[in-house]
Amino acid sequence: MFAERGSDGTTAESIAERAGVSLRTFYRYFRTKQDSVAPLLNFGARRCGLRHTGAMRTLGVIGCAAGGVEKLRTELVEPAVERGWQVAVTLTPTAGGWLREIGEVERIAQVTGLPCRVGPRLPGEGRPHPDIDCYLVCPATANTVVKLALGIADNQALTTLGEAIGTPGLPVVVFPKINATQVRHPAWQSHVDALRAAEVHLLLDDQFAAHGPRSGSAPGIPWSEALDTVERITG
Ligand SMILES: Cc1cc2nc3c(=O)[nH]c(=O)nc-3n(C[C@H](O)[C@H](O)[C@H](O)COP(=O)(O)O)c2cc1C
Repeated sequence: MFAERGSDGTTAESIAERAGVSLRTFYRYFRTKQDSVAPLLNFGARRCGLRHTGAMRTLGVIGCAAGGVEKLRTELVEPAVERGWQVAVTLTPTAGGWLREIGEVERIAQVTGLPCRVGPRLPGEGRPHPDIDCYLVCPATANTVVKLALGIADNQALTTLGEAIGTPGLPVVVFPKINATQVRHPAWQSHVDALRAAEVHLLLDDQFAAHGPRSGSAPGIPWSEALDTVERITG
């Protein structure tokens, strides 16, 4: 509102009205209209300063079509932004279809300030994402883990990840959200071994692997632990 109307044109009444709270509630939290935007400005200034000094690091988040990916923005992207990361999101085509359906592709782009990638760019187009300091694939499906181990690059997410694995010093963290039947597939272990040999950080969780498919009692995706791992690896 300050950007739209300027400081004089923005009153405490109009801010309260836009926020859907009474003027009394507004004054319970803020002394002045300037106070109400101070946290926002501090946060923006910190991000701006980090970007200016080159200290802001970019996390490449890859989301696959596993149950729970609907919460990618609220559970992973926004917390990563709050921790000071610039976040560039790429989705597999199936995950992209799921999240577009519920309006999340657009919301992710708004939160990150970068396009949420699903498809490839045209040959003449520039790269829509900046250079990445670390990749986090969360949640990763069994399908994407297997294809990544085999070097298959038949969508944008896998193309990006395949290149990342071949880039020395670029960490790749993967949380496979897989179930007992997928783990029992005879080829699974060889794919895990191949990725480990390539120094991919696999966050394998036995609790998930213990549950059958469509099990209502499987644990939730450990979003913040995945982010903690990224921060531990990248220092
Ligand atoms: C509702 C739903 C939930 C799913 N959850 C998972 C899951 O947790 N893990 C998994 O490996 N596959 C899961 N799948 C299957 C994948 O979506 C499917 O294998 C798909 O081809 C994966 O595509 P992607 O790896 O390109 O994202 C789920 C499918 C549906 C419809």
